[in-house]
Amino acid sequence: MSERQPQKELNGCAASLCAWFEEGQRHLPWRIEPTPYRVWVSEIMLQQTRIEAVLGYFERFMRELPTVQALAEVDPDRLMKLWEGLGYYSRARNLQKAARQIVSEYGGELPADYDALKGLAGIGEYTAGAIASIAFGIPVPAVDGNVLRVLARLTGCERDVMNGAVRRELTALAASLVPTDRPGTFNQALMELGERVCLPNTMPRCEHCPVAYACAVAGSERAAALPVRAPKKPRRIEERTVYVLLTKGTPGAVLLHKREDNGLLAGLWELPNTLRTSTYTLPVAGMRRVSDWLPLPESRHIFSHIEWHMNGVLALVEPCELPEGYAFCDEAALMRDRALPTAFRAYAHMLPTWLNQSPTKG
Ligand code: ADE
Repeated sequence: MSERQPQKELNGCAASLCAWFEEGQRHLPWRIEPTPYRVWVSEIMLQQTRIEAVLGYFERFMRELPTVQALAEVDPDRLMKLWEGLGYYSRARNLQKAARQIVSEYGGELPADYDALKGLAGIGEYTAGAIASIAFGIPVPAVDGNVLRVLARLTGCERDVMNGAVRRELTALAASLVPTDRPGTFNQALMELGERVCLPNTMPRCEHCPVAYACAVAGSERAAALPVRAPKKPRRIEERTVYVLLTKGTPGAVLLHKREDNGLLAGLWELPNTLRTSTYTLPVAGMRRVSDWLPLPESRHIFSHIEWHMNGVLALVEPCELPEGYAFCDEAALMRDRALPTAFRAYAHMLPTWLNQSPTKG
């Protein structure tokens, strides 16, 4: 089936979508009080992350860092702690970078300008469009993966939506539909439709769609097959050994390592780990092991491009001088300001128990 001339039939969709959204929208914290700062932080948190997962993080973040200024000044380790478990940590680092730009270049207020927003760290076309339209009422589109899917189905687009030209075409269509009087409502209506009705990888719930009357594929088998996307490259698998190295003191401490400032999990603290080898090796020269190696269960973690297949191993070690980038960390410090990525959860969740069972205690 060929794509149809979209514009004519889609006129009227904006009003239907806005009415549907205003009637049934979820009352989310950044919608109840849509200041530019709150909209910005929520949009960054919502990238690649479900709304339900974001809610608790958002409230805690706003309580602790209620202003751009506070975000600009917070200790980066504390910021990572606030982000711990949300994933894609470069989002948090970019938030702080952008906050510092906003303080130095815009007097601490987010700029009410699409291009200026796009010039801030971590803000691309989608996020600039979302902030500009929702927080400032600027009539620009905000096209993320959900919205692309909605637009591809509405228009019956059979081409690969990851292709730059196709994306641009669908974004131009969205731009032509944005109403000047309530752009934020329209953009959020499209997002919400993608999240709740026009669902991915399945037959969408067309019977609940306010614009099914204008949709090229509503109710047909083709709806589930759209959008067309080129297959992703398979993830690279890495076999890794994760070391849980505990000191015998009271309280006990665990050895942590700070990752490089770029690449995967950049700048985060981690349990020391290496590509898997046939023998275990302490990661710090001169460190002395005072127990046998205790093998721990295997665990897997999926990143966007890599999959870690981990085996863990635990040993007791003597406290010792550590080179830069390593630290022994007790439970209190771990809880307060060391963010351990979710990848290590299978081992990290036992740390409070292990650290409180220091052999010197009994
Ligand atoms: N996804 C990302 N931003 C959103 C928003 N403002 N409303 C609904 N879903 C979203």
